[in-house]
Amino acid sequence: MGCTYKILRGEDLETVVPSNQKFALDVLIGLSEKPKQLSSMYFYDDTGSRLFQKIMALPEYYLTSCEMEIIKTQTEQFSNLVGDGTFHLIELGAGDGSKTSVLIDHFLQKKLEFDYIPIDISEAAMKTLLRSMGKKFETLSANGLVAEYFDGLKWISQSKHKRNMVLMLGSNLGNFNKARARVFLRSLWNSLNNGDYVVIGFDLKKDIEIMLRAYNDSQGVTEKFNLNLLRRINTELGGQFDLNKFRFYANYNVFSGAIESFLVSLEPQRIYIAQLGDYFEFDAWEPIHTEYSYKFLESDISLLAEQTGYRIVHQLYDSKRYFVDSIWRVEKLEATAHK
Ligand code: AVI
Repeated sequence: MGCTYKILRGEDLETVVPSNQKFALDVLIGLSEKPKQLSSMYFYDDTGSRLFQKIMALPEYYLTSCEMEIIKTQTEQFSNLVGDGTFHLIELGAGDGSKTSVLIDHFLQKKLEFDYIPIDISEAAMKTLLRSMGKKFETLSANGLVAEYFDGLKWISQSKHKRNMVLMLGSNLGNFNKARARVFLRSLWNSLNNGDYVVIGFDLKKDIEIMLRAYNDSQGVTEKFNLNLLRRINTELGGQFDLNKFRFYANYNVFSGAIESFLVSLEPQRIYIAQLGDYFEFDAWEPIHTEYSYKFLESDISLLAEQTGYRIVHQLYDSKRYFVDSIWRVEKLEATAHK
């Protein structure tokens, strides 16, 4: 037993571009586009991960407390899924693991046999997570992977021998656009075995004011979280962004069903990024799109499961019905032998 972690960078998994160059390349492409965009995947360096912990504790950010309520009050629904035998409890985008530790505690009390495999992009977040899990649960076997989701999937597919329960909590899937969410879920399906379970947290559509307040928080933490992306470009790529010359803006797009986040340039400016060897021009009020946070209808969830090869087995709601942990079973036709 013990808690260890391994860093899986793209190069370990034979992807074409090493991860440090990938950030530079994505920034170059994103800032050369119209409208400009940067991926929210890059929010999560060590500072960004700490800021996200703060967001989760904000009173306006209802997603975390709603999902915590679901997990605390309906733990049996999770443990009932896994019968006898060892399984992997894989968590994509683990963060601080506070919700998962409720599940782990319950699983250990039930004497279930499992290895916990958190996958997170931030090494600092992983270290903190495993340290706190190790302190709480002496008998837990945990092997973390510091990796992006798609790299994590490749790892899952290499260990097909065990049964798997994959957790993707906290509405993390909502940060993918619809097409990417489908590709991701189908890739996950490819990596798993018939009968494995996937638990996905979905933030449900609700009063628009409530959703807006969660992203336009009164303490300005979400603004700092977004601006951290520019700070990261400064420190890692030799950028010269003045963070005071950008303002955070988040709005709900009724058509797309997403909170859409932006950093808006407050004046005309020309920013040099040393590692890209180039200047980037901004007009006054020009936006950089930074994040989609999709919100879902029940019918969106059913369609997504159906399109990507899963059967919904449980919908676990909080008492306000703001959030759902949706439990899906991987459905694969067993190969029939040719005569
Ligand atoms: C991680 N993800 C589900 C969060 C969300 O709600 O989209 C990230 C976040 N962005 C701003 N606040 C929180």
